Amino acid sequence: MSDVSWEDVRRQFPMATETVYLDAAAVGPTPEFLRESAVRAFVERQRPRVDAGGAVHARAQRAFGRFFGVDPEAIVFYANTTDGINVAAHSIDWRAGDEVVVHDRDFPSNLIPWLQLQGRGVKVRVAQSEDGILTDAAIDRVLTSRTRMVAVSHVFYQSGYRMDLAALGARLHQEHILLAVDGIQALGLLQPDLTHVDFYAGAIYKGLCGPLGLGVLYVDPVVAVRLVPDRVGYGSLQSPAIPWDGNLRYKAGSQRFQPASVNYPALHAAADMLEFLESIGFSRVTKRIVELSGRALGRLAEINGVRVVTPRAPDSRLGIAAFRVSGLEAEDVEEALRTRGVRVAARDGNVRASFHIYNSDDDVNQLVEGVAAVAREVHA
Ligand SMILES: Cc1ncc(COP(=O)(O)O)c(C=O)c1O
Repeated sequence: MSDVSWEDVRRQFPMATETVYLDAAAVGPTPEFLRESAVRAFVERQRPRVDAGGAVHARAQRAFGRFFGVDPEAIVFYANTTDGINVAAHSIDWRAGDEVVVHDRDFPSNLIPWLQLQGRGVKVRVAQSEDGILTDAAIDRVLTSRTRMVAVSHVFYQSGYRMDLAALGARLHQEHILLAVDGIQALGLLQPDLTHVDFYAGAIYKGLCGPLGLGVLYVDPVVAVRLVPDRVGYGSLQSPAIPWDGNLRYKAGSQRFQPASVNYPALHAAADMLEFLESIGFSRVTKRIVELSGRALGRLAEINGVRVVTPRAPDSRLGIAAFRVSGLEAEDVEEALRTRGVRVAARDGNVRASFHIYNSDDDVNQLVEGVAAVAREVHA
């Protein structure tokens, strides 16, 4: 684990030195060193080597493998999180009457692909969260003997609530129910425990501060061998020879889910960012982010007229500090803070401040002072 200072980290992110940027949950700002990744990607292509793409693909797989704590062979790439969830949803051999559990406050990417399955006779049951928090009891209420899949987000995009995937997955697996996770709000910020997760999808443009256009999907290799991927190509098969007999012999593990090539410049960026975070220490990164959001929540809770939404327990949240100011719409608070140079986002009625390693204690102060001033105006 390196002892690089947070000031040095911050200097890598131009956006963080120009404004109080608390919106990584929407888009992570690109660090300066990724400029070199982009240049490297295109310079390499000026004189293509036969294996140029394969090399960076494998490096990115290894980097995600270390972050996820899994075999790199279990990692495949698509264009975004939504693609990964669609692949999970459409690669299961559904039978009419099978059931999927989703929850009411999830991002549309983790609802619409499951809802589309209704056209194949699958029933979608909706667990009701309370104020953006999903309890075990709420999930249990909608589980039946026909449930085959539960789909949740690792960290909820509006409340910042973090699910305990290990506990949920262990419970579901005892009942032979699969678990699919939208992990984009945690990717790069927290190493997930994938012991009992079957699919984990994300993209690199939030916590990994990379470009749009690259999604990652973990597919449990044991589950993968039982599935026929919803999209296939030369990468999916054991042999490159075209199987004219129509008998497609898929690769033995998760790589059957990798049909073809993906966005190589973005793979460079993903690998470089993961290696940067690893050089700081993945757990040190998580600790820092949880501390910053915790400090913000503690101080916001003391402001008259402010109600914090994100749970305070450190293991029930990550980088998001979500709150409401009574008497004001979230959009009005977002706008008022923006005029003070503090960038947050209005989401689903909440004001969402989201922290990353480029943020500082002073950013917390400026957020808190800004919210206190806005709240004072309505409550004066
Ligand atoms: C929880 C969640 N899932 C999915 C997405 C969309 O991801 P993508 O564009 O990679 O499909 C977002 C974007 O804000 C999100 O917050």
